[in-house]
Amino acid sequence: MMITLKNLSKTYNTGKIEVKALKNINIHIDKGEFIAIVGTSGSGKSTLLNILGLLDKCSEGVYTLNGQDVSSLKDKEKAKLRNKNFGFVVQYFALINDYTAFENIEIPLEYGKIKKSKRKELIRGILKSLDISDKARVSPKELSGGQNQRVAIARALVNNPDIILADEPTGALDSKTSKEVMNIFKELNKEGKTIIVVTHDRDIASCCKRIISIEDGELVSDVRGIK
Ligand SMILES: Nc1ncnc2c1ncn2[C@@H]1O[C@H](COP(=O)(O)OP(=O)(O)OP(=O)(O)O)[C@@H](O)[C@H]1O
Ligand SMILES: [Mg+2]
Repeated sequence: MMITLKNLSKTYNTGKIEVKALKNINIHIDKGEFIAIVGTSGSGKSTLLNILGLLDKCSEGVYTLNGQDVSSLKDKEKAKLRNKNFGFVVQYFALINDYTAFENIEIPLEYGKIKKSKRKELIRGILKSLDISDKARVSPKELSGGQNQRVAIARALVNNPDIILADEPTGALDSKTSKEVMNIFKELNKEGKTIIVVTHDRDIASCCKRIISIEDGELVSDVRGIK
């Protein structure tokens, strides 16, 4: 998947207040990139990630995904494209406490038409690759932060998406566990996945091959070839 953002802006209108969250952003992302998006709180990082992941629309400009302008897509087509191509990882995991790890990972598969036996095979495979096979039947409240982050990553990966979008995936973790999570992303990137990580932590960003900085909704730097 190839992504191009051209003169992209996002304005939120809540009542009388207008917030320009993104201003005139131009970015091109090739398949297989490993990118950090950095910036202070409120700079527009999550807004950008949500637009990239087709969870939100831009107000102005053009977003093309593999050459297709996404604004021409119907909601249903967009949802299908999102489910097939993007895996989302968020800061506080967004796991369901009443479900086991296995059931949490199964959620994205329920949107697709995948047989139960096939689902089981996919989930077992992903649990194994993230080294949490023994946690399948355990609920998130009985797991550590790092283990829950692995479950959340497993859930993002189980559909085998091309692009992983992670919003502060290490925000709730200590530095050692954060490094482990970044190593998982590094391995996935080696396998060809595009990884985009939002972080305000410069150490975490330095694990990536390209760092895009945004401040007050504007792209202020885009540096490649760090690693
Ligand atoms: N749904 C919304 N409605 C109105 N304003 C919003 C909405 N979401 C974000 N904003 C505003 O847009 C700006 C950018 O927010 P965003 O969440 O993208 O920042 P961020 O860089 O992710 O910050 P943080 O590091 O704190 O998560 C902020 O001023 C925020 O208040
Ligand atoms: Mg945010």
